[in-house]
Amino acid sequence: MEAKKRKISIIGSTGSIGRQALEVIEKLGDKFEIVALAGGNNVELLKKQAEKFKPKYICSNAASSRAGESWGEGLTILHGTEGLEQICSNKENDIILVACSGKVGLRPTLTAIKNGIDIALANKETLVMAGDIVMSEAKKYGVNIIPVDSEHCAIHQCIKDINQVDKLIITASGGPFLHKSIEDMKNATVEQALAHPRWNMGKKITVDSATLMNKGLEIIEAHHLFGFDYDDIDVVVHPQSIVHSAIEYVDGSVIAQLGLPSMHIPIQYAITYPERFEGIKSKSFSFSEIARLDFEKPDYEKFPTVKLAYETGRTGGTATVCMNAANEEAVFAFLDGKIKLYNIYEITKKMCDEHKVIHNPTIDEIFAVDEQIRGKTKEYIAKFS
Ligand SMILES: NC(=O)c1ccc[n+]([C@@H]2O[C@H](COP(=O)([O-])OP(=O)(O)OC[C@H]3O[C@@H](n4cnc5c(N)ncnc54)[C@H](OP(=O)(O)O)[C@@H]3O)[C@@H](O)[C@H]2O)c1
Repeated sequence: MEAKKRKISIIGSTGSIGRQALEVIEKLGDKFEIVALAGGNNVELLKKQAEKFKPKYICSNAASSRAGESWGEGLTILHGTEGLEQICSNKENDIILVACSGKVGLRPTLTAIKNGIDIALANKETLVMAGDIVMSEAKKYGVNIIPVDSEHCAIHQCIKDINQVDKLIITASGGPFLHKSIEDMKNATVEQALAHPRWNMGKKITVDSATLMNKGLEIIEAHHLFGFDYDDIDVVVHPQSIVHSAIEYVDGSVIAQLGLPSMHIPIQYAITYPERFEGIKSKSFSFSEIARLDFEKPDYEKFPTVKLAYETGRTGGTATVCMNAANEEAVFAFLDGKIKLYNIYEITKKMCDEHKVIHNPTIDEIFAVDEQIRGKTKEYIAKFS
């Protein structure tokens, strides 16, 4: 008897994670049926993906595309946030990969959860902005949130009995400035910040990896995904990116997950969970080829973003919403050449220090704070030139 195909939709199919997910799905042959593909502005790529993968629905956010227009027979065109809502409330889906960047991911994720659809979650902002709400809704509706981020995917793979785990250990490659001076970092060009030594990712997350804010966001994600106190989440720098993260059990045993640095593996794990397939594997892992694994303490003076993430995470409420919004606006300003790399932290810290935290915020309050902080950050950045 033919095995049932898993039905999947991808939000952010035109991005780095989305494109790699389609490569994984292509490799897996007849294991998946694509219900919907959604992208932002890259309509040309979305059209090509639609021709190749034949989804039933396509959703674009581009001004040049409209709901209801024709891109081919049997294909329904959706548009914008309404379109994303339609995709995420379609119970045909067994799983939805949320791989868009930014706050766009939050509402569709909540909609999918309310419709009982499992989530493969790449979008960090969803948990950083509203981790308490998202995780409690997932529990209420019996939905699995399977992490795609390589560190959280590693922890997910290591944990057998969460009650016996003492500590999570998140690894960080250290980014392009790991062994550079603070001065080098201060004067870094956009090109240098985007030259990540290990991972090829979207621009926003690549800059976050250069400032180590990405690790800060991951600490907050880990807190929500696995329910660990911030005191029990450690960060260790591991430049080779082979150990993707680890856990320490109460008896001192440490279990780590290792693999070559490729996002294909965690993406495949998340969308096929709990099954495993050869799929995208191209070569066998060899300890002797890797030869050495290094670990070092993070330099919190050079990378104060990690401390800031611990602080806002411990404060909770809208503190992490503020940090996320201010950081994102500052990253965009850096990419536009308006500020220096080091200003990203200074601006984000200032916004966090001035923010009046709302505890236990509603989703609407979260979005309102996000808007307000973005506006305030942009105003502040305008004074920099
Ligand atoms: N890349 C990685 O290795 C990696 C690893 C772990 C976690 N993540 C997380 O995964 C998320 C995506 O990262 P990425 O590197 O793949 O980013 P990316 O390459 O910049 O891709 C972002 C995707 O989001 C889409 N998008 C933007 N606005 C949209 C909207 N309003 N509606 C629908 N789609 C929209 C983009 O569409 P267009 O391109 O068509 O505009 C694109 O498909 C981020 O939250 C990131 O932190 C990424």
